[in-house]
Amino acid sequence: MTSFPERRLRRLRATPALRRLVAESDLAPRHLVLPVFVREGIDAAQPIASMPGVSQRPLDALPAVVEEAAAAGIGGIMLFGVPARRDAVGSGATDPEGILNRAIAVAAEAAAGRLTVQADLCLDEFTDHGHCGVLAADGSVDNDATLEIYARMAVAQADAGADILGLSGMMDGQVAVVRRALDAAGHARVAILAYAAKYASAFYGPFRDAVESTLQGDRRTYQLDPANGREGLQEALVDADEGADIVMVKPAGPYLDVLARVAEASPVPVWAYQVSGEYSLVEHAAAAGLIDRDRAIGETLVGIRRAGAETILTYWAIEVAQRLRAGESLT
Ligand code: PBG
Repeated sequence: MTSFPERRLRRLRATPALRRLVAESDLAPRHLVLPVFVREGIDAAQPIASMPGVSQRPLDALPAVVEEAAAAGIGGIMLFGVPARRDAVGSGATDPEGILNRAIAVAAEAAAGRLTVQADLCLDEFTDHGHCGVLAADGSVDNDATLEIYARMAVAQADAGADILGLSGMMDGQVAVVRRALDAAGHARVAILAYAAKYASAFYGPFRDAVESTLQGDRRTYQLDPANGREGLQEALVDADEGADIVMVKPAGPYLDVLARVAEASPVPVWAYQVSGEYSLVEHAAAAGLIDRDRAIGETLVGIRRAGAETILTYWAIEVAQRLRAGESLT
């Protein structure tokens, strides 16, 4: 006698032990990277209003952040600089004494090889107009003039001791130019993480607050149109071809289809950036009592892994790593 229904798909969902046994996707602390904002000229952490729980840090607070990250076992930290002064060409980005380059040196020394030190390579935090590149006379973002600055910025970051450079400016040719500059300066060991499929997204809103961006207008002439998935794949393949060691899709949650396509086709590791707006949405919804915060965080991260990301940049990196180490299930 057969029981009905014959196809018992619920069988493997019956107990926590069975569910744990058959889970297809999970996450370990090493899969997480924490973005860190280092601001010049402050002496105490400054909470970022649009990102509850995230602060800008003074330079001298960085060793403690690195210590906490290392203890949590995460894979690395991604540094962003918030300079005290900005100009048209983003001089602070290439200055060895610029806030980001100093932060890299401090973090690299504190990390002492226990986790990777990564740096955002883009001009938007350093320009007074807030664009990711320098402007031509007609006000447009000048691709090739920007590449020359990226090359110098890359060498400064590598000199400071960065392990991985996160190229987030979306200029054509940036990976090839930066690779060539690094190799010529004796930095063949330094890896390139290309923000390959980076979309012109409303979800960067809280980040602009975090770095006090002065941007007028938008980034649609260099970042991708949210409508385009194939173009995201093309960007990733071109970047890998130019020598990117890792490619990234950003934001993560609204672009899981792009992530899955890139993960299927990429010859190099594929990462995702769960951006500021994705973070703030969950935090605000949880604060309003609309969702279970911890489960929502776990679900977003496991979803990003399921779609194909190997590593995830997330503002929850340390907290989630600590939960994982305590043996908690994220879902
Ligand atoms: C560019 C950069 C941005 C983010 C990371 N790198 C902002 C932008 O392109 O406007 C956004 C990250 C986030 O929203 O969490 N330096």
